[in-house]
Amino acid sequence: MSKKKFYITTPIYYPSDKLHIGHAYCTTVADALARYKRLAGYDVFFLTGSDEHGQKIQRKAQENGVSPQEYVDKIVASFRHLWEKMSISYDDFIRTSEARHHEVVQTIFQKIYDQGDIYKASYEGWYCTPCETFWLERQLSEGNCPDCGRPVELLKEESYFFRMSKYQERLLAYIEANPDFIQPTSRRNEMINFIKGGLDDLCVSRTTFDWGIPVPFDTKHVVYVWFDALTNYITAAGYLQDRGKFARYWPADIHLVGKEIVRFHAIIWPVILMALGVELPKMVYGHGWLVMEGDKMSKSKGNVIDPLVLIDEFGADAIRYFLLREIMLGSDGNFSRAALINRINADLANDLGNLLHRTVNMVGRFSGGVVFAPEAREAVDEELVRLAQDTAAEYERAMERLEVNAAVKAVWALIGRANKYIDETGPWALAKDPAKKGRLNTVLYNLAEVLRIVAILISPFMPGTTPRILRQLGLAGDAAAVSLNDAQRWGLLPAGTKMSAPEALFPRIEEKEEAESEAQQPAAPAKPALPVLPEVSIEDFAKMDLRTARVLVAEKVEKADKLLKLTVDLGGEERTIISGISQHYAPGDLVGKDVVMIVNLKPAKIRGIESRGMVLAAVDGDKLALVTAPGMEPGSKVR
Ligand code: ME8
Ligand code: MG
Repeated sequence: MSKKKFYITTPIYYPSDKLHIGHAYCTTVADALARYKRLAGYDVFFLTGSDEHGQKIQRKAQENGVSPQEYVDKIVASFRHLWEKMSISYDDFIRTSEARHHEVVQTIFQKIYDQGDIYKASYEGWYCTPCETFWLERQLSEGNCPDCGRPVELLKEESYFFRMSKYQERLLAYIEANPDFIQPTSRRNEMINFIKGGLDDLCVSRTTFDWGIPVPFDTKHVVYVWFDALTNYITAAGYLQDRGKFARYWPADIHLVGKEIVRFHAIIWPVILMALGVELPKMVYGHGWLVMEGDKMSKSKGNVIDPLVLIDEFGADAIRYFLLREIMLGSDGNFSRAALINRINADLANDLGNLLHRTVNMVGRFSGGVVFAPEAREAVDEELVRLAQDTAAEYERAMERLEVNAAVKAVWALIGRANKYIDETGPWALAKDPAKKGRLNTVLYNLAEVLRIVAILISPFMPGTTPRILRQLGLAGDAAAVSLNDAQRWGLLPAGTKMSAPEALFPRIEEKEEAESEAQQPAAPAKPALPVLPEVSIEDFAKMDLRTARVLVAEKVEKADKLLKLTVDLGGEERTIISGISQHYAPGDLVGKDVVMIVNLKPAKIRGIESRGMVLAAVDGDKLALVTAPGMEPGSKVR
């Protein structure tokens, strides 16, 4: 095999409880990176799993009246179920209770003991069970765990110790010589300071409970859960068990972990590997936390969000998009339902959804569903083509630097540009003039080609959406068959491609809460009724052709502070309307709204722009609200 390899891991999560959106965040980022590397042609090994031993799990099982194994089996099944729902493409799922793992842990513990780096002594100190961490008296913060703030327990046990102190200088030299080993830089500096403060030997066995891997030469001890857990990364890569596999994939390229466990990965883990004479991983990346109003999500605080509930409501791709787009990898990011809904509506339903819908719709109506070969390019076309190529390059650069949110952003800038390109080139006007058929073909081809490229670039982020876009474009809907190369080359869409019928990608989410809270407001005081106009017959009423229309573009009209220019989708047609609502609606609030309009009103020229139709609004003094029909197909009859 000549392909380059890429080995990426997530933490193996504790099956003490169900996972929350914070765990899903880390795993989604790792999945996006793994999928991106596969797209770029790498042979990828993507590992996740479960960290099943230790006092915390044993206690949880006891509280639930089941054996630890029964307890973890059930929760691990829920992990796998979640990852399946979230389209997580892991190559291996390691459980630390598996025999393959026991064997490796026992062998390396014995080896390190035999070479004198593990010794027996008596431990007296403190233990934080939720963090599974030993602390010295002087490290505590007001008597509690300095990491999580919870109470610690006093331990007095005969234990085995790992001679970490011996490796202090080698570790420091390694970190200093390898600037990429610990990322981001802020975490790296923390670790350097920590090591300079002095490494204590680490207690690596326990005797007061038995849910763990027995120390092979002294079986009343079980191996410390972090020593056991960290080893998963080499077990799964075939250490001691599959030489070929281990030679191929080790060292890991990235251990992606939360910032609170960088210390275990950047200090204890490398020292274990040094003691074994095994190469160190290339990078430990400490990502930030998902917080809710500034507070880290955690079970004990009761502010956790169940990703399964979100997936059922919004779909996995929308959740993945939000997590990848909204949060910068090294920093903390805020989770809120309002922000999620905002992203879905603005970026997915409007920007991406409309670009696809408009394009497929126009190709259907103006071109019999066929994308014909483009003809000579104009300046506006050149600009679009150049941006598409620059975007693919910027995307690659950002992904290689783990700047996932920057890569997502770059793709959305292209989507935005393509939507604007439709307005600039006006395909509906071109379609009316047979002499402009060549120009129309060029415009429609360019739009379809942008969408092909976008579909490929978003496949690491929204793997379920890519085939849906490709299918509508009339291309084979198999994302696995595309490559980064295909996204970097303009013009691969074959002329003559036959598109399918348009199908909505992401429905707009109407915010129920808001509507409800408005409904709860006290009724306004009674006002004098307006005089009623003379009666009309039903036939008179039927002369007005009222329809729903979806706002595609809204822009201010220059030098007219009341006017907005709207481009709306009427199902089979796009129209321009001038509307005097600028003081009530910002353009951005209108895009995607399903409004009601009269379509057979005599056209009028307003500020030199032909307005064809009028949108309906309720008016009360200075107040104005557009009449809307949320979620109705554009062009539906209003009666
Ligand atoms: O620490 N925001 O497992 P764990 C972002 N078993 N990420 C979060 C998060 C949040 N609010 N909450 C959790 C363990 N995470 C050990 C790991 S590895 C050899 C052993 C993510 O179940 C984040 O990646 O407590 C964090 O490091 C991990 O879940 C901790 O999961
Ligand atoms: Mg934790």
